[in-house]
Amino acid sequence: MANSLKDPTLMRSEALINGKWCSAEEDARYPVFNPANGEVVAEVAKCASRQTQHAIEAAQQAWYKWRELSAKERANYLYALYQQVIANKDDLALILTMEQGKPLAEARGEVEYGANYLLWFAEEAKRVYGDVIPGPNPNKRVVCIKQSVGVVACISPWNFPIAMLARKIAPALAAGCTVVCKPANETPLSAFALGELSLRAGIPAGVINILCGFTEQIGETLIASPVVRKLSFTGSTPVGKKLSAASASTMKRVSMELGGNAPFIVFADANLEAAVEGALLSKFRNAGQTCVCTNRILVDNKIIADFTQRLFRGMQQLRVGDGLKDTTDIGPLIHPQAAANIQSLIHDATRLGATARSIDIDPSLSKTFVAPTLLTGVKKGMRVSEEEIFGPIAPVMGFDTEAEAIALANDTPFGLAAYLYSENNSRIWRVAEALEYGMVGINDGAISNEMAPFGGVKESGQGREGSKYGLDDYLEIKYLSFGNIQA
Ligand code: SIN
Repeated sequence: MANSLKDPTLMRSEALINGKWCSAEEDARYPVFNPANGEVVAEVAKCASRQTQHAIEAAQQAWYKWRELSAKERANYLYALYQQVIANKDDLALILTMEQGKPLAEARGEVEYGANYLLWFAEEAKRVYGDVIPGPNPNKRVVCIKQSVGVVACISPWNFPIAMLARKIAPALAAGCTVVCKPANETPLSAFALGELSLRAGIPAGVINILCGFTEQIGETLIASPVVRKLSFTGSTPVGKKLSAASASTMKRVSMELGGNAPFIVFADANLEAAVEGALLSKFRNAGQTCVCTNRILVDNKIIADFTQRLFRGMQQLRVGDGLKDTTDIGPLIHPQAAANIQSLIHDATRLGATARSIDIDPSLSKTFVAPTLLTGVKKGMRVSEEEIFGPIAPVMGFDTEAEAIALANDTPFGLAAYLYSENNSRIWRVAEALEYGMVGINDGAISNEMAPFGGVKESGQGREGSKYGLDDYLEIKYLSFGNIQA
């Protein structure tokens, strides 16, 4: 595997602690699999509590110096890392596809997406402004300054191994924090490659630490530590709730980017061609494994037959296969259990009366591949309408009125992303304002970028990543009261 890289030294399999590549105790290791074929891509260090503790101590020591740098100096380091990532884009994409499965073109897109957060926060680092507030009497002045929260634990998922980590590391470093990162065990190699590039960018030892292995031990050590002042987590809602509750014991700040159940609403006055294009984009990106992927397609009954026919025609153009092949649009799911869960969702829906139509795929593909499937006649109560799907199934439900569409869309504990297609300006405003979601794509199926605040409401989490708001979660406000000022 490392041989296929232009620069094989990007392929790291140890933990990055205090600027050094370290093995786990007794050189414990675990295999990382290629989801397309089950082959072992690498054996990586399986770390536990002790290495986590070392990483926390290293991050704490590094923080005392990192926070003292000028914002411009920190910005320059982030910019240097951005340049390293861009210079090594092809290798990073290859590593990503090998361990995650997504097609190479999508992997390159993800590397750029992640790099954009590094560049964005290199710029934003210089704009951490405070306030001067009128004092309560003539002898007082009130000044607010913003300071880094301290050591941050960044727990990132397997669906975007580079972008989600960059989206946490970049604002943390920009604000003056240092980080201990726990990438998903399925996809540590992209994170380690990013760590290697951080060393080449000259980022001081201890500012970025990365380890994986015994997830519970690492997580518990991070959460129990009073030194770790903030947790930034991207993952499922059940795990997010547990981590949030546990973080209360040390009153850590938390940012939670959790699950979704995105409605994609198509009104009768929509541009159908654009709606189909948007649905394909938002549904099948990363084989349906994103938390902003369309989960339920809600279509006005007047146009539902036309829309579903067009959608299925679009789905038939999708080519499913190994992400390393140029022709592939949709790769495997992350592991066979994920694929089995998708099959059980389809089974549940058809048992309860839905109709499933799958596109043809090569039958010799491994069990991690799932054929994109259209489900029509979907109703409330079927698992596909209630759960986050995380796979290439497109469930379609009908509605008759705008009020019904809004009620259906909001009828979920989740509130991350929603999409609506209409050409009626008044309706767009009415519906967008009524949707209980953190992000709404309006005639837009691709809403993620570094300039926008990414995040959800309700059980989809709290906090925002990216944009001018993305630094706030990593900063404390300190108020300085100046007294005894003589007129
Ligand atoms: C996610 O699935 O967690 C993030 C997706 C995105 O950034 O678009």
